Amino acid sequence: MAFANYLVDLIRRITPSFGSQLSHITTYTRELPINLDRMYENAIDWEHLPFLHSSTFSEIDVLESGDWGWKANAFLTPKSTFNSMLLELRLDRNKNRWITKTLAGFGKGTEIWTHAIPLGPNKIKVIVDFYVPKLPAFLKAKYAGQYNALYAQLYDEDLWMMARRQAQLNKLDKAKTTAPETTKVLGKLGELKAQLPFTFEFNHQTYRLVELADTLVAHTLSCPHMLGPLQDADVQGGILVCPWHGYQFDLKTRKCISGQRCKLAPAPLIRIDTDKMEVIALINNR
Ligand code: FES
Ligand SMILES: [Fe+2]
Repeated sequence: MAFANYLVDLIRRITPSFGSQLSHITTYTRELPINLDRMYENAIDWEHLPFLHSSTFSEIDVLESGDWGWKANAFLTPKSTFNSMLLELRLDRNKNRWITKTLAGFGKGTEIWTHAIPLGPNKIKVIVDFYVPKLPAFLKAKYAGQYNALYAQLYDEDLWMMARRQAQLNKLDKAKTTAPETTKVLGKLGELKAQLPFTFEFNHQTYRLVELADTLVAHTLSCPHMLGPLQDADVQGGILVCPWHGYQFDLKTRKCISGQRCKLAPAPLIRIDTDKMEVIALINNR
């Protein structure tokens, strides 16, 4: 299938062009319950493509990036020599839009123009226009259907990330304005052990209690990079992998072991009251 798509695209690319011939294929629109900051942050975040959108992108190698956008070599999923692309995304905040161009490779010449219109403090509308040069008329409906289905999926995935990140930022703001808890009884030792891994809230943050080498320890469920969720990570090997950009953390040392400069935030200390057989979380000022 990937090869068939590649052949169709190759024929399109080598077809002689007369004039500009950049045809408008379709428009995808959607209202999203997030603000423009989250949307722009997402647009220039090249790093999430092969992780959050792993069923669409298998790899990305960035060449340049900044507040203006990014330029990168990318591969679709599954990775093959037929689906490599040189992509460029340029964000223009003054015009509320970003343009993604395929500069080379599969889909060369394609331009995707996205406008984001604020509708309220936490509501925007995105309007995405797809242009493909030299596309034969009989393929227009097929491409339109594929782009609409693909963008519905990509925005489902992006919305999950943007909404969760905003909720985490709101919790951090709330924590700044309320007096911190210093201790919290999590429950009876026997009952908690039967419920591991056990998730709990402490000072407006979410943590998880796990057992490592016969010792109960807590770890944060917020990634230090962009507050991604760590709850689905497998703790058996003591390694947490964030689903948003793939950063990996050693549970014991809290260090990032995938090369980025960040570290898990300290979690509450865990003590056992042996008289009451209760597990207690204590504020950690390290
Ligand atoms: S939020 Fe980016 S790796 Fe976790
Ligand atoms: Fe995305």
